Amino acid sequence: MDKIHSLTGMLDHYDDGDIENISVKIFETEKRIKKVFTNYKYSEIRTPALEDTNLFIRSAGDASDIVNKEIYSFNDRNEKNIALRPEGTASAIRAIIEKKLDQTNHKLWYLGPMWRYERPQKGRYRQFYQAGVEILGYEEGAPEYEIISMVCSIIEEFKLKNCSIKINHLGDKESKKLFCDALIEYLEPFKDSLDEKDLTRLTKNPLRVLDSKNKETQSILKNAPSIREFIKPSALSLLENIQNEYQDICNIEIDYTLVRGLDYYSGFVFEAISSDLGAQDSFLGGGRYDHLSLKLGGKNLPSIGMAIGVERFASLIKDITTSNKVVSFLTLTSNLESKPYKIAHQLRSLNSNIILDLQLSDGSLKSKLRKANKNNSEYAIIIGEEELRDGTAVIKFLNDELKDQETVSIKELFSFYTSL
Ligand code: HAM
Repeated sequence: MDKIHSLTGMLDHYDDGDIENISVKIFETEKRIKKVFTNYKYSEIRTPALEDTNLFIRSAGDASDIVNKEIYSFNDRNEKNIALRPEGTASAIRAIIEKKLDQTNHKLWYLGPMWRYERPQKGRYRQFYQAGVEILGYEEGAPEYEIISMVCSIIEEFKLKNCSIKINHLGDKESKKLFCDALIEYLEPFKDSLDEKDLTRLTKNPLRVLDSKNKETQSILKNAPSIREFIKPSALSLLENIQNEYQDICNIEIDYTLVRGLDYYSGFVFEAISSDLGAQDSFLGGGRYDHLSLKLGGKNLPSIGMAIGVERFASLIKDITTSNKVVSFLTLTSNLESKPYKIAHQLRSLNSNIILDLQLSDGSLKSKLRKANKNNSEYAIIIGEEELRDGTAVIKFLNDELKDQETVSIKELFSFYTSL
């Protein structure tokens, strides 16, 4: 029979214990990012993968690439048009409105798969994971500092190098309108040189022209008016203050041409990029979206959020050694011999901070030690026929090649393990 393959741009991830493997890095990234979210006292929100397609048309905007060409939408058996979520913000707001919680403040986080029908390439998939936060119900100010602080904490946690955060301010309603008018006026004489996509952007959401991939458009834009001339002094000082406060942790660059790919943004926006990523260099993005709740039928709920592209982020991590020690437990006895498994059980209950990898396969000592080294074990506990007979175990110090292995009694093994 023919084999069935996974769909284009949709990857399987499997933890084989090898810390160089991208899947292992992805799982570790998710675990540690969740910890940062909960340490900042954010609460989890989990929404369905499938939503009414109108949710995304109304939020991301019908001029966005996400809605125009990337959305996975189809009719269900009841002819209702539904879509796999391309992002998490709209669903979070929909859920809060539906629960009638849109008059209170919230600090939320989520982690899950998103789907976009994009041309797959390195760092760009059709199913990918986002870890995001949404801060709902707070006006501009504190949440902007909090969210950049969180981005910096995540960058610090993973010791990321070669990255920077670009920030911009899209202005309040009035400044945005004035800027868009000026941009339209400036581009008017160049209309014949713009491609169809940029012309559509110009009519539906002029700001998006700044994000054009067309080289000719970009060269025309070189002399275009800058949003810097239109935003309020308070917006300029927000950008400068954020840059000054966090510059010592991560390079922060004010980029007045930064606009985001979704229509719901207003005010402060940002993206984190890394020169190690290649063409798809943005591993995180977000910003303020004060009008989304009203647009989705809810109350006025000024909000800001961000989402991390987990696959891209994980590919940047060099070292995923965890704070929890890993120990490998290797038996060289017949695998029907029950005693060693009971010893492993007792060790686990003595010290739950240790990750104990009991290798279940037969195999030689050499191959078991190779596996122990691969999964970053600091120690190997070895029990063979001889040790079983004598009531002992061997401790091998994988973290210190110069140190000789030791044969200890089971009682000594227990106190060694407890002290780790
Ligand atoms: P976004 O910029 O569209 O924002 O996506 C956030 C991150 O998801 C990107 O920076 C990138 O790392 C990752 N990403 C996007 N598309 C793909 C793809 N096809 N393959 C792999 N990774 C991808 C949002 O989605 C907003 N909801 C963020 C937000 C939250 N804004 C406010 N709150």
